[in-house]
Amino acid sequence: MEGELVEAINRLKTYREHLIQILQKKNYEDNESSLFAPFDEQTFELVKIQANKNKNDDLRYVIVIGIGGSNLGTKAIYDAILGAYDQLESNRFPKLIFVDTNAGEYLEKLIKFLQKEVTKPEQIVINLISKSGTTTESIVNFEILFKALSAHISNLTTRIVITTDENSKLWKKAEEKNIAKLPIPQKVGGRYSVLSAVGLYPLLLIGLPIEKLLQGAQEMALKCLNEEQNPAIISAIILYLQSKQGKVINDNFIFNPELESLGKWYRQLMGESIGKEQDLDGKSVFAGITPTVSIGSTDLHSVGQLYLGGPRDKLTTFIRIRPQQEQLMVDDEPFLTGLVDSISQKTPQDIMNAIYEGVKIAYEKQQLPYTEVELEEKSLQSLGEFLQFKMLEMMYLGKLLNIQTFDQPHVELYKVETRKILNK
Ligand code: PA5
Repeated sequence: MEGELVEAINRLKTYREHLIQILQKKNYEDNESSLFAPFDEQTFELVKIQANKNKNDDLRYVIVIGIGGSNLGTKAIYDAILGAYDQLESNRFPKLIFVDTNAGEYLEKLIKFLQKEVTKPEQIVINLISKSGTTTESIVNFEILFKALSAHISNLTTRIVITTDENSKLWKKAEEKNIAKLPIPQKVGGRYSVLSAVGLYPLLLIGLPIEKLLQGAQEMALKCLNEEQNPAIISAIILYLQSKQGKVINDNFIFNPELESLGKWYRQLMGESIGKEQDLDGKSVFAGITPTVSIGSTDLHSVGQLYLGGPRDKLTTFIRIRPQQEQLMVDDEPFLTGLVDSISQKTPQDIMNAIYEGVKIAYEKQQLPYTEVELEEKSLQSLGEFLQFKMLEMMYLGKLLNIQTFDQPHVELYKVETRKILNK
């Protein structure tokens, strides 16, 4: 184990130096060029210009049509800051509405809702996001939504923004139809694109100060590239060595429910980056660590038994936001007195702190390995730091596994079969 650790550290030292050189190039020529995205002032300017064109006081709904890497990062940030409370804050605008898979009933209800709620074009923007420009689900959703809404909303094309690769057919279509468009750099794959126009445009459009997101990502990039011992390298090495010890599941156990979408973003990042049949030498390796997302304390009441008593195949990453002071608390004379001990004058955070610490002790007693990630606060800065930390962790992990981190050839398999069936 010690020898493997030293070897892993040495391999990553060389790779870290390579990544520093890539960032210094300030362009999008390499597989790892997503590192440059938070520093890319030109794209930020483009996004700002487009958002300013579409912004106004009447804007209520921004419909994000995209799937996988084209919506998971945006949803992660939106849900963490605002979206998790959308149902309870019906009068807060503008809102993001995500449309990803094909679900007819949802789409029908959404169309009826928008036909009722949106009476003029200024109230809506449709952002179609697809790097390839040919993802069936996204194009179908766009076609149906566009047809239904353009009958009700005049000049709807002026409220559409297409985010795609400059070489895609969709880019050319946008040009042809005179629709606004934003580029995704060719070398930046979906799961590494959250800090490109993919995430920046819709988030800026609804008024989030994305400079802070970018600042957090920049700071974390510099830390994880310039410091020899940094969170991304340490985490990648732990994941790598633990997987060699049979911990082939990485459970991301999140203790803030509003971060569930962030967990799902990470699931794609890890799943697609390191789930590979062959290594870089062409050897069949069927590499991968299966990422799962659990929510504390909710999932302790469903899979807690399995995690603590079942197969010892998991490395857990506990994730939470540093606890804050809260005002709400149980009355000092509880109405249902005598049911649960020691809860009077306790806040929800006090209870969660006790559960969080209790879970860690239980994991230790069961000798189950875990790491912890604590976001300093719920802010765009902390989210930017987390996203960049995890994207770099994945690059380092891919290097240790000797696999191609940036492609996803097997996603194509189902897409090809689907197209064959549709063509029949
Ligand atoms: O990471 C990936 O490349 C995929 O998961 C894509 O994000 C997903 O298939 C959507 O593709 P596109 O953005 O081309 O519509």
